[in-house]
Amino acid sequence: MFVLAFESSCDETACAVLEMSKDQRTIKSNIVASQVDIHALYGGVVPEIASRAHIEAISKITYEALDTAGITLKDIDLIAVTQGPGLIGALLVAVNFAKSLAFANNIPLVPVDHIKGHVAANYLTHKDLEPPFLALVVSGGHTSFFDVKSYTSLEEIASTRDDAVGECFDKIGRVMGLCYPGGAAMDKLACLGNKDAITFPSPAISKDTLDFSFSGLKTAVVNYLNTKNQKGEEICREDVSASATKSIVEAVKDKVAMAIRQTGYKKIVLAGGVSANSHIRKGISEVCAKMGAEFYAPELFLCGDNAAMIGAQGYYEYLEGAVADECLNAYPS
Ligand code: KG4
Ligand code: ZN
Repeated sequence: MFVLAFESSCDETACAVLEMSKDQRTIKSNIVASQVDIHALYGGVVPEIASRAHIEAISKITYEALDTAGITLKDIDLIAVTQGPGLIGALLVAVNFAKSLAFANNIPLVPVDHIKGHVAANYLTHKDLEPPFLALVVSGGHTSFFDVKSYTSLEEIASTRDDAVGECFDKIGRVMGLCYPGGAAMDKLACLGNKDAITFPSPAISKDTLDFSFSGLKTAVVNYLNTKNQKGEEICREDVSASATKSIVEAVKDKVAMAIRQTGYKKIVLAGGVSANSHIRKGISEVCAKMGAEFYAPELFLCGDNAAMIGAQGYYEYLEGAVADECLNAYPS
């Protein structure tokens, strides 16, 4: 079946066409209209601007996604849309657009949870991947372990107690004067720096829990940078990036090892925007290799927000009968 999918939870307006069946998970088109350049002016996402930009982009990218896939709306069997979590004004743009298309054309509509969508990006990358497995979702808003019991049933078993890992990267990047969002730039800088140059606190909290806490690390790095600035001392951004990344990677490795021991899962799936981080990918793959577990991560183009992942999850939700009516609303958290 052909699935038309929409995503507008934050600062990317996205539309994709997928061909899905029991034996097929194919991306026919995957269009992302990014607003990053607009929000970079403000050092973060401005919700009102995001909503307006989604409205301006959504019709155009829908035509583009259908054209690229070489089909028309008449060929679409299912429409999937991100229902939440995200910015409410932003979410409502795709939810209302998808609702109108679905009801005007008599096509079933399926609401999709954004986090489940990130996990589903892995089904498109790894055609043989099937639940159950353990997932670690790392993004700008989330850092959580999930027991993925089936395609549609995910149980959160641990999470960050404060900031998400992406938030931590972005805040440090902003104080160092990197372009918003700073995560990808810090990934590159960390490759050039000395990871043992500065000792920063661990986000791993204690050995008794799978939970993380990133606010201590974030504050420590920001204090380090502010102190250096006040003293007029030079900052080596490569060393700061490498040292902060080391702290994050070590914590993630410890918690993944602990989660494997606790749950007994031998299939570990990474998801979310921060899953593009080369150091985190390498760290987890090393732990998995050591513990005899298989490691899965999305292809880089499917790590950040996109609609293909929403279409993949939407297909599995549809198989479970999760069809929405015209009362469908968005949820922010
Ligand atoms: O999943 P996502 O696109 O949006 C949310 O749902 O939050 O994740 C965005 C986050 C941002 O914090 C961004 O800096 C981070 O993903 N990110 C990275 C990398 N690429 C994107 N963080 C670290 N290393 C990267 N290579
Ligand atoms: Zn996301």
